[in-house]
Amino acid sequence: MTTASGSGTVTAGAEDLSVWPASTRRLPHGGLTVGGVPLTEIARRFGTPSYVLDEEEVRARCRGYRSAFPDADVVYAAKALLCRAVIRWVDEEGLGLDVCSAGELELAVAGGFPPERIVMHGNAKSPRDLETALRLGAGRIVIDSPSEIARLAAAVGPHGRRRVMLRVTPGVLAGGHEKIRTGTDGQKFGLSLADGSAEEAVARILSRPELRLTGLHCHIGSQITDVEPYVTSLRRMVGLMARIRDTHGVTLPELDLGGGHGVPYRPGEPGLDLMALARALRGELAARCGAAQLAVPRLLVEPGRAITGPAGVVLYRVLAVKHTGGQVFVAVDGGMSDNPRPALYGARYAPRLTGRGSTAKPRTATVVGRHCEAGDVLAADVELPGDIRPGDLLAVPVAGAYHLSMASGYNLVGRPPLVAVSEGSARLLVRRETLADFRVRDVGV
Ligand code: LLP
Repeated sequence: MTTASGSGTVTAGAEDLSVWPASTRRLPHGGLTVGGVPLTEIARRFGTPSYVLDEEEVRARCRGYRSAFPDADVVYAAKALLCRAVIRWVDEEGLGLDVCSAGELELAVAGGFPPERIVMHGNAKSPRDLETALRLGAGRIVIDSPSEIARLAAAVGPHGRRRVMLRVTPGVLAGGHEKIRTGTDGQKFGLSLADGSAEEAVARILSRPELRLTGLHCHIGSQITDVEPYVTSLRRMVGLMARIRDTHGVTLPELDLGGGHGVPYRPGEPGLDLMALARALRGELAARCGAAQLAVPRLLVEPGRAITGPAGVVLYRVLAVKHTGGQVFVAVDGGMSDNPRPALYGARYAPRLTGRGSTAKPRTATVVGRHCEAGDVLAADVELPGDIRPGDLLAVPVAGAYHLSMASGYNLVGRPPLVAVSEGSARLLVRRETLADFRVRDVGV
């Protein structure tokens, strides 16, 4: 990312904090502050593990998107991280919201988000999802399967007319891991451009008076760091829009290119260059629409990770250090229940000792969690001070997206709290899950 991308400046010999929130500062004796708050203070006040979220970083990233895409709708993908505070920040910064369940939608609307700026996704929307979308007035519903057309039209009824988009699979291979690639045929999302099912679905939607097709949507995958797959998708989608105009005489006013914008998790890794993306999309859109004599549609983009990911840090307490089989295992008080990403996608992170200085020589260690699985690894083969010991505090950057939102109740460890930091103060946004929560849900005997 070129916009709002961490603290940026790295001088020779200095610690590289480029993947940390821009507000991150070093304290004497090895500490760090984020949003003006020492991480040790957060650990003391809120316990560990804890997720920390830098409000200004989230807001700056929203603003970065709006200035890179002044003519587009920027729609934050709620699946990355959703809570009432994030809903408010995103609303105040003028973004839309992408939701994919009745739960996300209800929380957003209850949190005051304008429903007309909400886009509802889902490859398998339940009756409750559709009913909630209609009842709460979600601005656009993205149809993702042929059967949804009739279901949705029936739910809207003869007197209504709802704005819908169609999710298309443009046949573009992109994405940081096989499990988060969604741009090609042979996976569960979208209707194929290649085999004609997208065009068939368009014809069916256009034949339903209850539905108003405002545009096409595609989301080719996640953690994508090149511009090129987006440009290819855009070209194919515009081609389809031109064919729809030729066949049906309908010019669709919107084109949603989804999200998937990649961010670095460790210093030196690439991120998607937002300005380069915006420039390339604008140029390609103008050129392709000009060539096809098609009115230029309004673009939508749906970043999730790139808005909240780099604004988050997760804090763990070291519980045990074990030397075995020639390896050093540093076991912390969280693990795959608060971050399943290493286990799911082989995601790599850069944990850092914080709260005390160390002059010990670094050595290679593997940070593991406390869950009852050997695969509960948070960061394999990372450099940590050689004297790392129980009681130490570890901080891991880029923990704002797909951490809390993917956290589980495994081993009844309980999901960590989410703490906002801003202008030198910390406040609780989502509290820690406790034994009482588990007890309340467990209603049988
Ligand atoms: N739009 C749609 C329709 C999506 O399905 C997604 C993400 C996004 C936008 C936002 O993508 P982002 O900009 O955040 O990459 N759990 C995985 C990521 C799964 C993404 C699912 N869809 C991970 O932790 O890497």
